[in-house]
Amino acid sequence: MEAINASIDVDQRMASQDIRGSRAHARMLAQQGIITDADAETIDAGLGKVAEEIQHGLLTFRRELEDIHMNVEARLREIVGEPAGRLHTGRSRNDQVATDFRLWVRDSADRVDAGLKTLITALLNRAEAEVETILPGFTHLQPAQPVTLGHHLMAYVEMFSRDRSRFADARARLNESPLGAAALAGTPYPLDREMTAKALDFDGPTRNSLDSVSSRDFALEYLAASSILAMHLSRMAEEMVIWSSASFSFISFTDAWSTGSSIMPQKRNPDAAELLRAKIGRIFGAFTSLLLTMKGLPLAYSKDMQEDKEVTFLAADAVELSLAAAVGLVEDFQPNRDAMRAACLKGHLTATDLADWLVRSLNMPFREAHHVTGTLVALADDKACRLDELSLEDLQSVHGAITQGVFDVLSIEASVASRQSFGGTAPVRVREAISAAKDRLT
Ligand code: ARG
Repeated sequence: MEAINASIDVDQRMASQDIRGSRAHARMLAQQGIITDADAETIDAGLGKVAEEIQHGLLTFRRELEDIHMNVEARLREIVGEPAGRLHTGRSRNDQVATDFRLWVRDSADRVDAGLKTLITALLNRAEAEVETILPGFTHLQPAQPVTLGHHLMAYVEMFSRDRSRFADARARLNESPLGAAALAGTPYPLDREMTAKALDFDGPTRNSLDSVSSRDFALEYLAASSILAMHLSRMAEEMVIWSSASFSFISFTDAWSTGSSIMPQKRNPDAAELLRAKIGRIFGAFTSLLLTMKGLPLAYSKDMQEDKEVTFLAADAVELSLAAAVGLVEDFQPNRDAMRAACLKGHLTATDLADWLVRSLNMPFREAHHVTGTLVALADDKACRLDELSLEDLQSVHGAITQGVFDVLSIEASVASRQSFGGTAPVRVREAISAAKDRLT
């Protein structure tokens, strides 16, 4: 029974939240005349002592006491005696655990937000330095059109900025205090739930006692936001793995952020990026685990819900660590600008520019321009050269009206510079995007 029932191995991580909640509750009980001021002071001092002991690793948790709530209260009783027994007036472990867990998830969400901000700042700094660096942009992982590295990095700034706003939304809904809902129905004691909510930095008390003790959607939202964030991190990590491979060689990592192989001396492996790519497994795993735990549970509290914390803590550790690693990787990667440029010269990346030139200069319908360009690409392939290495005669052999002016649009620099539509890859737009993102960053 103890082996399946006890949660102390996991929920001891909520010790500081538990003590914070108890102190707020005790002060409120005294203010409402439910316990004496003297008892409240004794309890408060005693809880301070328990907190100190836990902080210094001096308290040995006991599994037979089941969870962090009972362990703290038992230790309080050892320290202060009888008044400890008055702390649990007008509350239950059901509203207590719901409160502690909200506080814990809120703390983690705040750390995630700080980590995201650091990551966005790192990306902005790298983007700023690479506004003019050109590499192939891909669709289907096939070279498509040239883009700037600054623009590419800014795509992740957009994703991580939305992640921040998802966590902020989740935090706003989470930020209500279940404390005082008691076991499930409320309590006959004249509690001041506004007071404890305020003391714990919640916006106010939850409105329905049954919902207060039986809902975990705040944790699910946190895990959903974490999963989407982890998906973004995983995509960025995957690009780092591909780009640092010998075949691409777009970037490399220093020894600080890569490892050697134990058997192949020539290797430098992007282990950190690979692990970053993998972390979504446990994070999304936590989301599905908790969602399925909650599914079909009748109101109000059921012990099933004790399973909420282990997976959430696991996911939170992974998300927070992932963000730190992502910052390290973003700050560390060394761009190989020559390799990026060389890759742009393969695969006729400016074919679209050629088609657009035919449309603009010869007033050709785009479909026809697409066809003419396709013929020119085939001709270049036949001659094993680039589009801009075809002679004017070659070009005119396919369409007589083509003029020398076409060569102005066939370089990769001209291609990126021309993409000045709002949100486009032209350096002028990317500079604006970076400065706007900096202004938005709070
Ligand atoms: N350890 C429990 C949990 O994490 C605390 C709540 C226990 N409540 C109860 N009625 N047994 O969910």
